[in-house]
Amino acid sequence: MSNDRKVIAVVGATGAQGGGLVRAILEDPSGGFAVRAITRDVNSPKAKALARLGAEVVAANIDDAASVERAFRGAYGAFCVTFFWDHFSPEKELDEARILAGAAKRAGVKHVIWSTLEDTRKWVPLLDARMPTLSGKYKVPHFDAKGEADEIFRSLGVPTTFLLTSFYWDNLIHFGMGPTRGTDGGLAFTLPMGGRPLSGIAAEDIGRCAYGIFKRGSELIGQTVGVAGEHLTGAQMAAALRAALGEEVVHNAISPEAYRKLGFPGADDLGNMFQFNRDFNEDFRRSRDPSVARALNPALQTFSQWLAANKARIPVPARKAA
Ligand SMILES: NC(=O)c1ccc[n+]([C@@H]2O[C@H](COP(=O)([O-])OP(=O)(O)OC[C@H]3O[C@@H](n4cnc5c(N)ncnc54)[C@H](OP(=O)(O)O)[C@@H]3O)[C@@H](O)[C@H]2O)c1
Repeated sequence: MSNDRKVIAVVGATGAQGGGLVRAILEDPSGGFAVRAITRDVNSPKAKALARLGAEVVAANIDDAASVERAFRGAYGAFCVTFFWDHFSPEKELDEARILAGAAKRAGVKHVIWSTLEDTRKWVPLLDARMPTLSGKYKVPHFDAKGEADEIFRSLGVPTTFLLTSFYWDNLIHFGMGPTRGTDGGLAFTLPMGGRPLSGIAAEDIGRCAYGIFKRGSELIGQTVGVAGEHLTGAQMAAALRAALGEEVVHNAISPEAYRKLGFPGADDLGNMFQFNRDFNEDFRRSRDPSVARALNPALQTFSQWLAANKARIPVPARKAA
């Protein structure tokens, strides 16, 4: 590996977004970048697999500012993502963002990509009763804390591109959002957005878009860049699932209120998220233009392409024997 490559330090390197970026850099050896994968455990199977692919793998914990600063030292770029679903705490997520931004500043990183989302309170103030206030002062906690954290990067003067991400289609595999089988025996795909389209993306493509941003040099520093693979309604997603799975899948268009009551951890946060997506759909889509994502990442997948490659990984309940 030549020494003149620009090192990109990647937080969450063994995970969804960071993993996509790590692989994008490694698959482009003449691209001028080298990757430093950050993990809490350099001996885990996932960390070792990244090392085998050619990544420099270093240990750091986002809860330990000094370890993050060490991991960022000497890097040209840093990809920063936080871990809301590990703790469900917007305050902790803000602390994580503060640690990442502070470490990037002290380490003198030249270009940070901050994986962010909207602060939905700019659209739905806390007193607005359309959706419940959660965790004391949030509407969509896992969005709002990320959006609020944008200002942390700005106020510290960190040279940052704000990457607005989208719903991972991978949630159908890992997050229990795949089709379920109803009492009638048929498959249903639940999406509480009525007929409005959901901006979605293959999680891997988020990291690949981040690579496209780093490749543009300083051009996108200070800008917000939104990425999506496609904007699809629940009915369109159900139709694509039907084509991929070879079995009828209907769109179960429940209300956000009903979704909030599903009872799993985070259902209220996600119910509010889908309501925000539904009620401010044009704003949401406008800031996530698939053609922008495709310009950054020419291999950007559509939902059908993603399904063709991943349908076997979606846990689909078996048909009941007659
Ligand atoms: N699901 C969605 O649709 C969606 C959409 C947009 C945005 N998001 C956001 O994406 C974020 C998560 O990103 P992701 O999905 O890429 O994560 P992920 O796949 O869950 O992976 C996160 C990785 O980060 C590492 N990690 C966890 N805690 C850490 C810590 N304390 N210090 C250092 N590293 C740590 C873990 O690696 P090691 O075990 O190797 O340390 C893990 O592999 C969340 O905040 C979520 O809100 C999700």
